[in-house]
Amino acid sequence: MTVLAQGRLSVEIAPLLKTKIPGPRSLELLETQNRYETSSRSYTSFFNFAVDYGKGSTIVDVDGNTFIDWFGGVSVMNLGHGHPAVVNALRSQLEKITHITEIPTEARIGYLKTLNSVLPGKMRDNSKVLMTVTGADACEAAVSLARYVSKKQTIIAFTGSYHGIAGGIVGATSNYHYRDYAGYPAQNYVYAPYPYPYRFRRSSEGEDISKEVIAGIREMITDPDSGVPPVGGIIVEPIQGEGGYIVPPDDFLPMLREVCDEFSIPLIVDEVQSGIGRTGKLWATEHQGVTPDIMCISKSIGGGIPISSVVYRKEYDNLPKAFHLGTYRGNPLGLAAGKVILDIVKEEQFLERVRSKGRYLMKRFEEIKNRSKVIGEVRGKGYMIANEIVSDKQKKTPGTELAGKVRERMFRNGVLMHTCGHYGNVMRFMAPLTIEDDLLDKGLSIFEESVREAEAGL
Ligand SMILES: Cc1ncc(COP(=O)(O)O)c(C=O)c1O
Repeated sequence: MTVLAQGRLSVEIAPLLKTKIPGPRSLELLETQNRYETSSRSYTSFFNFAVDYGKGSTIVDVDGNTFIDWFGGVSVMNLGHGHPAVVNALRSQLEKITHITEIPTEARIGYLKTLNSVLPGKMRDNSKVLMTVTGADACEAAVSLARYVSKKQTIIAFTGSYHGIAGGIVGATSNYHYRDYAGYPAQNYVYAPYPYPYRFRRSSEGEDISKEVIAGIREMITDPDSGVPPVGGIIVEPIQGEGGYIVPPDDFLPMLREVCDEFSIPLIVDEVQSGIGRTGKLWATEHQGVTPDIMCISKSIGGGIPISSVVYRKEYDNLPKAFHLGTYRGNPLGLAAGKVILDIVKEEQFLERVRSKGRYLMKRFEEIKNRSKVIGEVRGKGYMIANEIVSDKQKKTPGTELAGKVRERMFRNGVLMHTCGHYGNVMRFMAPLTIEDDLLDKGLSIFEESVREAEAGL
């Protein structure tokens, strides 16, 4: 079933605002939440409403206001809310069994077979799957696996990386605040600069960014005096997510693959945010034809049910029993959803629509950029698109406050759009891949209006 054959998935008219935002019932629920839930929440400070239900790429709040969802629960709802095929799969699984750990079920076997049949490059039908629960859990297990097979402890991660904050994997997440909160030193992790074309400080004009980064990594590995202990793995996002929807140059991943091959270092590709069709290919590495040794999958694979998986080459499958544990690994509901989601997203017609609509969006965002004083760069692939907000285009001064204002104004006008980036100044488009055309166009108008309002205050 393709998105086109599906008919409209979203609420008919959106946005449709009937009350001031937040409305009276939302305010009540928010106040009660404040009373009982931790003050460390962040999303409720900018999306301050209470949700009744989601439908396709729209969200209806408890006061009956309808919003366009360009947020997708942080890039989780790739098929949108309540996709009929996913709901049917969940419903029938719900009536069978909802938890049973590692014991095979039809849902588990269906997921394993389908996933293996759609893996990138040489991984296809030639890999093993280790079930985990969250993105962080998958990355944590992936790093343990790399260390186990390489018998080396040090992992190279990248500036701007985000691999989660639970357990030791917080060391691979570059923002040191998270490590501080967790009380973790960045033991056994070193950071190489991620090729971020808009902000990369080249050592000389005209220098090839990928070559420069790869030369640095090569030095870390080969120079006995580099200060870096023997490297047991490299973990990379093919397009950085939380770091700012940063698209590296096309030659970066193939060059990284080459270095890993040369020194027999496992290459861990974190597809938690970029996978499941987000970039217009099922996996982002497919744009360059790079095959990972280990791959992390989560977010939209479960359609909102927390599941994740580590996929790795068969030759690594010499692991001790209970190598990685967790009661909730491979929840049957998530696996049933995952199989159906893969079956839909893997279709070339579905992916081609994401690519062509993605090009359309990039063109429209680019036009808005050209009319604006504060959009420094538009970049992206498929439906993973960034608008980097700056207060000075020449100096590229990060417009963190401005981006906050754009997000706030969009929300007041009925569109959820979130930020990311080193400075929290990047407006990112991460709507469901099934979003209808009118919700793209209305969202774009509201985006431009909100950018204008924000720059008027400059
Ligand atoms: C690329 C990437 N890896 C890992 C994670 C961590 O996933 P989780 O929040 O489920 O632990 C995220 C979350 O945003 C992510 O974007």
